[in-house]
Amino acid sequence: MRIYLIGFMGSGKSHWGRRWAATHEWPFYDLDDMITSSERLSVTDIFEQRGEEYFRMRETLTLRRTLGINRAIIACGGGTPCFHGNMEWMNEQGFTIYLSATPAYLLQQVMADRSQRPLLKNVNEAELLYFIQQKLAEREPFYQQAKLKLHADGLSANSLDSVIGPEN
Ligand code: S3P
Repeated sequence: MRIYLIGFMGSGKSHWGRRWAATHEWPFYDLDDMITSSERLSVTDIFEQRGEEYFRMRETLTLRRTLGINRAIIACGGGTPCFHGNMEWMNEQGFTIYLSATPAYLLQQVMADRSQRPLLKNVNEAELLYFIQQKLAEREPFYQQAKLKLHADGLSANSLDSVIGPEN
């Protein structure tokens, strides 16, 4: 089995993915990291130099390549489920978990490292909450297709015990 973590920017996919992988001794993969290491550019630079469409194409190709990985936790980017049929594909090929959070919670989480997120970089602070609300509403229909939904603010190292089993 492979587990795909999905959710908005700042919902904790990479943070919790890494922790859960450590708890269960499963490998952890981060889709953005896989893309940046094969492109040798940061996500921001890929958006700036090659455009979002190019990034989404690389993202989909990288996601499809995870088919060769077994018993792993894979953190997706916030937009991964919303392009090129990726949500449907993940549901066919693995177990999807949505880390849901309120716009206020997400705002707090993304404030610190907003410059590394191309979609948020140029939104001014006063408009950021509104931007998050709009984008989240747009993406919610995709996120809601996840097999399991967990609240981002109530997670612990053992949150996946019922999915993976405490000692595997
Ligand atoms: C994106 C989220 C980012 C990254 C890219 C686009 C999005 O990942 O893939 O900046 O469309 O929401 P994180 O959710 O890990 O920040």
